[in-house]
Amino acid sequence: MTKPMTDITQLPQHDRILILDFGSQVTQLIARRVRESGVYCEIWPFNQAPEDRVQGYNPKGIILSGGPSSVTDKDSPRAPDFIFEMNVPLFGICYGQQAMVSQLGGMVERGDTSEFGRAYVDVTAHNDLLENVWDKGAHEQVWMSHGDRVTKLPDGFNVVGASEGAPFAIIADDARKFYAVQFHPEVVHTPHGSALLKNFTHNVCGCSGDWTMAAFKDETIAKIKKQVGSGKVICGLSGGVDSSVTAVLLHEAIGDQLTCIYVDTGMMRAGESEQVVELFRDHYNIPLIHEDARAQFIGGLEGISDPEIKRKIIGGLFIDVFDMCAKRVGGADFLAQGTLYPDVIESVSFTGGPSVTIKSHHNVGGLPERMDLKLVEPLRELFKDEVRALGVELGMHPDFVKRHPFPGPGLAIRIPGEITIEKLEILRKADTVYLEEIKNAGLYDAIWQAFAVLLPVKTVGVMGDNRTYDYVCALRAVTSTDGMTADYYPFDHEFLGRVSTRIINEVPGINRVVYDITSKPPGTIEWE
Ligand code: XMP
Repeated sequence: MTKPMTDITQLPQHDRILILDFGSQVTQLIARRVRESGVYCEIWPFNQAPEDRVQGYNPKGIILSGGPSSVTDKDSPRAPDFIFEMNVPLFGICYGQQAMVSQLGGMVERGDTSEFGRAYVDVTAHNDLLENVWDKGAHEQVWMSHGDRVTKLPDGFNVVGASEGAPFAIIADDARKFYAVQFHPEVVHTPHGSALLKNFTHNVCGCSGDWTMAAFKDETIAKIKKQVGSGKVICGLSGGVDSSVTAVLLHEAIGDQLTCIYVDTGMMRAGESEQVVELFRDHYNIPLIHEDARAQFIGGLEGISDPEIKRKIIGGLFIDVFDMCAKRVGGADFLAQGTLYPDVIESVSFTGGPSVTIKSHHNVGGLPERMDLKLVEPLRELFKDEVRALGVELGMHPDFVKRHPFPGPGLAIRIPGEITIEKLEILRKADTVYLEEIKNAGLYDAIWQAFAVLLPVKTVGVMGDNRTYDYVCALRAVTSTDGMTADYYPFDHEFLGRVSTRIINEVPGINRVVYDITSKPPGTIEWE
C-alpha cells in the first residue's frame, strides 16, 4: 500500500540555531554537539550572513565560533552588528567571545602568555547557561586555546567564572541573554561542554529538541517525492554507508523510479560485491545494475605506480563506466549522491589562495554536468553520525551502518606502487584476517578506520627450515571524528602479535607485518 503523499508546505519548521564561523578548526564540533541535543543548526561564514538571510533563517539563537585571528588586529573579523539588536540569545566561544566583547564596548588585549590545553574554571555565580551543570563554587575542567583575553567587560555583563589565565572565562549579560566563554565547550576535553551548549539551546533559547532522525526521514521523503515527481533517478552505490543510506531513503520515497548502479572496479575488499548485490537486489529489491568492470580497471592501471595518476585513471574510468550504465537505464533525470554536510560547509579560509592538493579524491563530481542530470542530495544537511542514525531509522542493520569508511579508489591506494591481480588477492586476504581479529576483540566500533596495506617491498624471512622472500604488510588503524585529523589506535602488543601471526601463517605472499603509528597530520590516513 502506498503511503499518502505528505504536503511539504505543511511540514513543521524546526527550531534553528545559527553558528557564525570565524575559522576555528573545531567549528564543526559545535554543530555536532548542537545537533546531538536535538536542535537543527547550520554553520555560515561570519562574512556571508547578511541581515535578510539571517532574518529569513529565523534562528532561536546564534553562536559565534572560535577562530585564529586576533581582535586586536585591524581588519580582523567581526560579527555582523545587527545580530546584537535582533533580540535573540548569543553565545560567543573563544574568538567569538572576544569579538562580542570588543564590539559591545569592552576590551580585549594580547596576553603575555598563551593558555593552551587543559585549564580549570572557578564558577563564581549562578546562571542560566550553567543551570544543573555547574554550581557556584565549582572548580571545573575546560579546554583553552587562546593568546588574547578579555580585560574589560561591556556594560551589562557580569563575570560568572574565571580561570588562572582568563579572569573572564565565563561572562553573561542575563538581561539580553548574551553569554560568552573563553574556553571551548565543543571539545571532549571540556567534559561538561555539551551540557553547557545544551543549556544554551534549550534553557536559554527555548529550543524543544525537535530535530530527530524519524522526523528528518519523513520530511526528506516528502521533499524527494516533490523534487523528483515522476522522474527517473540513478544512484551510484559504492558499498559504503553514505551511498547505501541515500539509496534506501530514495527507494522508500520513489520505489522503482530508482535504479542503482554498482561498478565493480576490482579494487573492492573480499566479498564486497556479493554483499552489495545481495543487500540491494535481493534484500531491498531495488533495481540494480551490477557492472563487472574489473578487467577495464586493472588493465587501465597496468604499469602505473604514481599515486595521483592512479587516482586520476580510476576517477576517469569510473565516470566512463557509470555513464555507459546510466545510458542503459534510459532517460534518467536525476543523479542521487550521498553528499554530506561537511562537504557543503564553506569554511572560512584565512590563507587566501587555493590550498595545495594533497590527494585528488575520487567521486562522481563530474558526472552531473557530463550527463546533464539534476542532483538529488538528501543527506546534504547531515553529519556522518546522523547518516548512521538515519540508516538505523530506515531499518538498516546497525552493523552495516557502522561500517568504516572506504575510499573511492579502493584497494588501489592501499598497494603503493604497481597493482597486480596477485597483489590484490594477497591484500584482500590480509585485510580480512585483520578485520576479523578487530571484530573478535570488540574493537571495531572504537576505531574510525582500520585496514591493511601491501607494501612494494620484499624482505627475507624463515618459515620452518625454509627461506622466504615475500611482501611486507602494514596495518593501519586510526581514531578520528571526521577523517580530517586522526590518531593511531593504541592496540596492545598481544593483539598486534596475534594478527601478525595469523596473517603470516594464513596469507601466502606475506612474511612480515608492521604497524603504522603515524597520526594525521603529518601522515594521511590512506597511504596514497
Ligand atoms: P586521507 O588519506 O586523505 O583520508 O587522510 C581521509 C579519509 O578520506 C578517505 N579517502 C577517500 N574517500 N574517495 C573517497 O571517497 C577518495 O578518493 C578518498 N581518498 C581517501 C579515507 O579513506 C579517509 O577516510
